[in-house]
Amino acid sequence: MSRMRLVFSSVRTDSEPATVGGILQVSRRNNPRDGVTGALLSSRTRFVQLLEGDAAGLDRCFARIQRDARHRDIRVLLSGPTRELLFPEAPMLGIEAAGLDSPVAAALSDDAPPDRVMEILRALARRTDPQPAEVPEADASLVALRRIHRAARHILDDHLSRSEMPPDTLERLAASLTRQAAQAGDLHRRLSAASSADPDHRTEAQRFHELLQAAQREVGRRLGRLD
Ligand SMILES: Cc1cc2nc3c(=O)[nH]c(=O)nc-3n(C[C@H](O)[C@H](O)[C@H](O)COP(=O)(O)O)c2cc1C
Repeated sequence: MSRMRLVFSSVRTDSEPATVGGILQVSRRNNPRDGVTGALLSSRTRFVQLLEGDAAGLDRCFARIQRDARHRDIRVLLSGPTRELLFPEAPMLGIEAAGLDSPVAAALSDDAPPDRVMEILRALARRTDPQPAEVPEADASLVALRRIHRAARHILDDHLSRSEMPPDTLERLAASLTRQAAQAGDLHRRLSAASSADPDHRTEAQRFHELLQAAQREVGRRLGRLD
């Protein structure tokens, strides 16, 4: 089966952060079915996407993408057979331009020559293998958040299930929950701001944040009762 590679650039028709997360979510569902992998680079105004996979699946995928009203001026920068896959593990890796000077931003500029775009994609692929690169900011936030959540759950199950608790234990618990809630709040904000974030992960982050706030209120209530 011949493997194909296609790289295109396009202009976004909106700059909503949630748009990219939505596209990535659908891609992660559809692309494994179509045997497609790749990366989607995005800034507030532009996309560059690398699609790789068997010809039929890739054609189907690109046909859908071309009909999508969330972008326009689709320009194919490169299309042809390939033997290697640059992101073999990624149904669709989301990579946001971190700053105006970043290589990702250079790939997204409207006059970036195709060779330069490929060079940048190759460099990103090297950095994502085996370590995630530039974007996984959103994923890293989620991993950290899950760790905090596990720790908080442990504290809650262990302590809050008991009705009697010495005041100094409650004070320690309150201090620890305050720290965790602050971290969770910060991570939730970062996750929400990262347009590559999966909407489900945003919801998960929001839930953790709320859980910690509720736990803080509960500890506060108990402390108040003890006063
Ligand atoms: C820049 C861009 C890249 C996209 N990449 C993919 C992709 O890799 N795979 C995919 O299935 N859909 C992708 N989409 C979304 C498709 O255009 C389309 O909305 C989606 O495939 C519809 O899937 P559904 O029929 O399962 O709802 C992309 C859209 C845009 C604007």
